[in-house]
Amino acid sequence: MTQNGFTLWFTGLSGSGKSTNSYRIYIELKRRGLKAELLDGDIIRTNFSQGLGFSKTDRDINIRRIGFVSYLLNKNDIISIVAAISPYEKTRVLNRKLISSYIEVFCDCPLDVLEQRDPKGLYRKAMAGEIANFTGISDPYEAPADPDILLDTSTASEDDCFRRVIAFLENKRYIPCEDECELRDYSPEEELQARRHLVALGFASKLADL
Ligand code: ADX
Repeated sequence: MTQNGFTLWFTGLSGSGKSTNSYRIYIELKRRGLKAELLDGDIIRTNFSQGLGFSKTDRDINIRRIGFVSYLLNKNDIISIVAAISPYEKTRVLNRKLISSYIEVFCDCPLDVLEQRDPKGLYRKAMAGEIANFTGISDPYEAPADPDILLDTSTASEDDCFRRVIAFLENKRYIPCEDECELRDYSPEEELQARRHLVALGFASKLADL
């Protein structure tokens, strides 16, 4: 099976599981020998969208930018996996129009669960008025009406979410099944890169579990 580019776009509120779920899929696709890139909102904002804030205009620029990079990657048969809040429906639709194979994954989680979990303490700060325009608190999130994949991350386990996304990609023939792949191990260099990525995402405490 030759590899075709596609974009797997995770949208959802902060803390809804976009980074965790997208990262697992990314690692699995690499293990299956596929060429893929992971574009995570926090990392993109540090390295590619520096200077952009959280106004509607800046968020739209950020999301269109990530959409355009995904389009370029896909044109060269590289899979793009995106994890970004992407709060505005119209902007997501524009990306869907630009990208010929666009799969939207909605990480759905009720706000009260996110406020309770709050691992980065952002909801607490936003509710105290210390962060302005915080999505879900003082800024809108327009939930996708018709996502390709809906993950209820308050009830489904990480393994369930992983299996559901992989099954979707296999069933629609976006990716080959495991037994059709020449599985590969990570080189030490790739492993290190992956670990650095996790640390950058704030998952440092989980590194020992890898
Ligand atoms: S998006 O709206 O442009 O899609 P993006 O996914 O890149 O957002 O960035 C969201 C991340 O920025 C959050 O995970 C959080 O760590 C951080 N952040 C800082 N300020 C805000 C804010 N006002 N609203 C949402 N996220 C914020």
